[in-house]
Amino acid sequence: MSNHRAPRAALQPTRFAMPVVAMVAAALLAGCGKQGAAIDPEKSAELIQPVARIELKVVKVAPGSRTGEQIVKSVCAGCHDAGSLGAPKTGDAAAWAPRLALGHDGLTKSAIAGKNQMPPRGGLSDLTDTEVARAVAYLANKAGAKFTEPPVQQ
Ligand code: HEC
Repeated sequence: MSNHRAPRAALQPTRFAMPVVAMVAAALLAGCGKQGAAIDPEKSAELIQPVARIELKVVKVAPGSRTGEQIVKSVCAGCHDAGSLGAPKTGDAAAWAPRLALGHDGLTKSAIAGKNQMPPRGGLSDLTDTEVARAVAYLANKAGAKFTEPPVQQ
């Protein structure tokens, strides 16, 4: 007998829940209807703006005004952090020591032209010469060089 009761008791929440679900659905639909009527392109643009703004920030770093750190983190680190393809590792003073002998200008020339497995400008062809010099300074300084990163003109 108790077998009979159990399913009935179990059914009860469902029976109770059905109208609630229906009410919530109705409320949601009503809400959607209202919102749909209120949608205007300006409001949508305003809602999307925070996302768009973040994207703009990235795009807005115009070629020519990227810092060594930005360039190294987004481009050079791809090989140099792990030492891929035989790249001298970021921060590895021993690996960099013989290269540092070329000086900031010499290393910048290498990086602009490319060297063996390293493509010209680390593969980012819109880097200006000055930007490459900034990136080289940032990268080499991590391995003990004391190069001066050319400042970004505001
Ligand atoms: C695709 C991988 C890769 C990327 C990306 C890369 N490098 Fe390299 N880099 C290498 C390799 C490999 C070497 C070692 C080349 C050799 O001596 O055979 C190297 C060597 C160098 C050297 C030493 C050059 C020399 O004459 O000894 C400098 C400086 C350098 N990279 C700077 C950079 C900078 C700055 C960037 C970013 C703009 C960059 N690299 C991006 C792979 C890369």
